[in-house]
Amino acid sequence: MPDLLVVGGGGQLGRALARTRFADGLTPHLADRAEVDLARPESIADALAARPYVAVINAAAYTAVDAAENDVAAAFAANATGPALLADATRRAGLPLIHVSTDYVFDGTKAGAYDEGDPVAPLGVYGASKLAGEYAVLSGNPRAVVLRTAWVVSPFRSNFVKTMLRLAAERPLLRVVDDQRGCPTSADDIAATIATITARMVADAAAPAGVYHFVNAGEGSWCDLARAVMAASGARGGPAVPVEPIATSDFPTPARRPANSRLATARLTRDYGVSPRDWRLAIGEIVAELVTGTAAR
Ligand SMILES: NC(=O)c1ccc[n+]([C@@H]2O[C@H](COP(=O)([O-])OP(=O)(O)OC[C@H]3O[C@@H](n4cnc5c(N)ncnc54)[C@H](OP(=O)(O)O)[C@@H]3O)[C@@H](O)[C@H]2O)c1
Repeated sequence: MPDLLVVGGGGQLGRALARTRFADGLTPHLADRAEVDLARPESIADALAARPYVAVINAAAYTAVDAAENDVAAAFAANATGPALLADATRRAGLPLIHVSTDYVFDGTKAGAYDEGDPVAPLGVYGASKLAGEYAVLSGNPRAVVLRTAWVVSPFRSNFVKTMLRLAAERPLLRVVDDQRGCPTSADDIAATIATITARMVADAAAPAGVYHFVNAGEGSWCDLARAVMAASGARGGPAVPVEPIATSDFPTPARRPANSRLATARLTRDYGVSPRDWRLAIGEIVAELVTGTAAR
C-alpha cells in the first residue's frame, strides 16, 4: 500500500485526515509531534527515511494565535523553519507536499472574499510565521500545494464549536463577536479536499501546484456561527442558550484578528473540481456528533 506521511497527526485536522478515505489505496500514516517535531530537523529526516512515502501532508502548526505574540521563536520554528525543511526534504525525494496555511496571512481590510493572489499583510506573529512558511514551501518544492483555510472546527481538540457547547452548558447567555466575518470550515471537509489534491499530485507529476483556498461555502460572523451551533444543539436535546452580539473591541485579545477572513475558492474548483458545501450543513454534522457523544476527543 503506498503510504502518505501526515505531519501533525494529533491535531484536529490530523484527526480528520485519519478518518478520511483516500483514493487508489493511499494510506495515511499519522505522525504525531512525538514522532515528527518540526522544530527537530532530525525527526523529519528520520520519518521520511522510515518508509517509501509517495507524498507528505503537513497538518502541523503552532496555532495558539495569542500565545504566539510572546513566543515568536517557537511559532517560527513550527510554522516557517520546519515547513522549509519539509519542502527541501520532499523536493530531494521527488515527493509532492501539501501544506496547510491560514486566512491570517491577510489583514482583513478587503471588501470582498480574498483571492489567492491578493496582497498579504499579517496582523500578528502567527500570521507572519505562517506566511514565512508559505514562502519557504513554495520556493523549496515545485510540487507543493499551499492550502489556505480558515475558522477550522471539528469534533476534535479545542475549537470554537466545542467552546460554545461547553459555555452553553454553564451560562444562561453567550456574548459573541459579530464584527469579524469569515467562512466556518469543517476539518473533515478540508481533509476530503486534501485527499483529492493528494491523489492527483501522486498520480500526475504535472498536477497544478501553488496557493489554493479552501473553506466551506457561505459566510457569517462568529456570532452567526454560535447561533447555528445553538440551533443545531437545541434541536438534538443538547445545550442551547441565547447569543448576544458584541464588538471585537468588547473582547480584547493580545493578537489582532482580521475583520474579514472570507476566502474565495474558485481556483480550487477550476483546477481540482472541489465544490465546498455550505458551512451550516457541516456545522450541523459536527454538533450532532458532539451532542450524541459519539465523537472521539
Ligand atoms: N484552527 C483554525 O481555526 C485554523 C484556521 C486557519 C488555518 N489553520 C491551519 O490549519 C492547520 C491545522 O490546524 P489545526 O486546527 O488542526 O490545529 P491544531 O488542532 O492546533 O493541531 C496542530 C497540531 O500541530 C502540532 N504541532 C505544534 N507544533 C509542532 C511542531 N513543532 N512539530 C510538530 N507538530 C507540531 C500540535 O501538536 P500538539 O498536539 O503537541 O499540540 C497539533 O497536533 C494548521 O496549518 C493551521 O495553521 C487552522
